[in-house]
Amino acid sequence: MMSYTHALFVFILHISLLQVVVSLIFGEGINIKGRLPIVINTWEFPNATQAAWTSLQQGSNAVDAVVAGCSECEDEQCHHGVGPGGKPDESGETTLDSMIMDGQTMDVGAVGCLRRMKSAIAVARAVMKYTKHTLMVGDLATNFALSMGFTEMNLSTSYSIDLWQKWKNGRCQPNFRENVTPASDCGPYSRPSKRQSYNTLHNGDDPEADLSSKENHDTIGMIAIDASGNISAGTSTNGLNHKIPGRVGDSPIPGAGAYADNEAGASVATGNGDIMMRFLPT
Ligand SMILES: *[C@@H]1O[C@H](CO)[C@@H](O)[C@H](O)[C@H]1NC(C)=O
Ligand SMILES: *[C@@H]1O[C@H](CO)[C@@H](O)[C@H](O)[C@H]1NC(C)=O
Ligand SMILES: *[C@@H]1O[C@H](CO)[C@@H](O)[C@H](O)[C@H]1NC(C)=O
Repeated sequence: MMSYTHALFVFILHISLLQVVVSLIFGEGINIKGRLPIVINTWEFPNATQAAWTSLQQGSNAVDAVVAGCSECEDEQCHHGVGPGGKPDESGETTLDSMIMDGQTMDVGAVGCLRRMKSAIAVARAVMKYTKHTLMVGDLATNFALSMGFTEMNLSTSYSIDLWQKWKNGRCQPNFRENVTPASDCGPYSRPSKRQSYNTLHNGDDPEADLSSKENHDTIGMIAIDASGNISAGTSTNGLNHKIPGRVGDSPIPGAGAYADNEAGASVATGNGDIMMRFLPT
């Protein structure tokens, strides 16, 4: 139930965000023409907002502005929630999820569980620009990025390794396992034997208790409308602390992490991605 409460909390935030955008565009008596361009994003990431704004001032389109803004956060490792050096998975590795959507063409490029690549949203834009696909994942997305001229790097930092080590030392609590043995310790994990009751397997601390803190849902989601009225939305994140390797959140899923449509506006969401992607809040 806890997790649904959090998802709802975020959903409401998102609705109000959507209303702001929609009323800016279509609100009676508001003349949007004189107000373009516009950029808004989640959380206090002023340098990211500034980077997107500067890009718009220089005549970039909305897509390139969102990429510029989210890239700034990847460089800065905003709140350790975007780019390298944050949210180590169970094995200590940081992996990235990101998407970009063009509200004029309805094109989307996205990457999930991207490994050893810092510039997740730029790789997402490459998926949009240089392929007919929408979403690429894991090591094979890394190979694609390499072929497009991106450079591999180690996404771990002393901060993320330290965070991971502390979690290991605390018997890998909290974690995202459910109904497995051991229930309150580090893996390897296995399915319960037939004789074990699920009731005996309530796995350790609840990681979702952590999700209401700023530290655990600080994905950047950004929306820009350029001078010619085209709209774009994008996201970039390194996911959740101690996620199970291979997990992909809502951020690279159109309709979950972000959506943009010139005809309707755009929205972005952040929160418990595992829950949000079931409801497509954007
Ligand atoms: C934002 O940019 C300024 C100027 O480059 C820098 O001093 C500051 O540390 C940046 N903020 C963050 C949160 O990194
Ligand atoms: C990546 O960097 C971390 C921290 O500096 C280090 O512990 C780890 O061994 C490195 N991984 C690889 C594959 O080089
Ligand atoms: C969006 O961009 C295209 C060119 O890419 C332009 O023709 C169009 O006028 C722009 N604005 C809107 C609202 O579609």
